[in-house]
Amino acid sequence: MQPFDSVTALENATPLDRVVDPLREGVRKVFGAGKLRDALHGVWLGHPLHPTLVQVAIGAFSSASVLDLVPGNERGAQTLIATGLVSAGPAAATGWADWSEMHEQQQRVGLVHAALNISALAAYSASLGARLNGNEARGKAWAVGGLSLLGLAGFLGGHLSFRLAAGANHSEDVPHLVKPGWQDLCAVDDLAGDGVPQLRLLDSVPLVVVRQGERIDVLSDRCSHLSGPLHQGELTYDGECIACPWHGSVFALEDGAVRHGPATAPVHAFDVKVDGGRLMVRLPGAG
Ligand code: FES
Repeated sequence: MQPFDSVTALENATPLDRVVDPLREGVRKVFGAGKLRDALHGVWLGHPLHPTLVQVAIGAFSSASVLDLVPGNERGAQTLIATGLVSAGPAAATGWADWSEMHEQQQRVGLVHAALNISALAAYSASLGARLNGNEARGKAWAVGGLSLLGLAGFLGGHLSFRLAAGANHSEDVPHLVKPGWQDLCAVDDLAGDGVPQLRLLDSVPLVVVRQGERIDVLSDRCSHLSGPLHQGELTYDGECIACPWHGSVFALEDGAVRHGPATAPVHAFDVKVDGGRLMVRLPGAG
C-alpha cells in the first residue's frame, strides 16, 4: 500500500463533511466575496498567494531545527521559531480562502492538511515557551514534533497541488491543443446575438462564444480555477465579462483577464474575424 492510497481514502471520507460544510460557510462569511478575498487568493499576483507565503514559515521552522543541532545557537533558533509563528498567520489566511472554494475531495484533504498545520503551530508555540523558560531540551523536543507534523501537512499540501490540481491553472493546456493560424469555428448566422454564452468545439477544445449584436468574443471554455464550464455562466459588468457558474470567478471577454477570483490565471482569448459568413478564430501562441 502506497502513502497515496491512504490519501485517496481520505479524499472520499464523507464523514469529514460534517465539519467541512459548516466550516466552509463560516470561512466564506469571514472573507466575504470582495477585494479581501481576491487579495488572499492572489488575483493581484496572477498566481495563488498561499504557496508563496508558506515558504517563510516552513523556511524559518526548518532552519531552527538545523540550528538546534549546532550548540550555541539558542537565540537564533528562538528568533526563527517566533518568525515562523508570526508568518503562519497570513499564510493560513490565504490557505483558508483557497480552501473555501475547492471541490469536496480537495476540501476533505485540505481540512486534515490544516489540522496538521495547526497542531504543528501548537507544538512550535510550546517549543518557544519552553525555550523562553530556560528549558532548551524540552523546547528542542517540541520542535522535533512540530517539524514532523509540518512534514505530514506538507505531504498533503503536495497531494492537493499535484494530484488534485488545487491551485493549478486548468486552462494551461489550451495552446497545446489548438492548431496555429486561423481556424473555421462555425457559421455566424448559427450564433444567437443576444449575449447568451454558447458552446462551440474547435476540434476537441471547448470554446465559449458570446455574440452581442455585431460584437463577437471567444474564450476557452474551461475556467482556469477548476475547469468550470464558462458557457453555463452569465454575463456581468454590462456584458464586458463572464462569470463562472461554479465558484464565481469573473473573466473579461476582451482578453480573458481575471476580474475576480478564486481563479488567478486568465483564460485564453481568441482573435476573431468573419470570412464569407464563417466565424474564424485564432489563438496567439497556439501550436
Ligand atoms: S471552476 Fe471555480 S470559479 Fe470556475
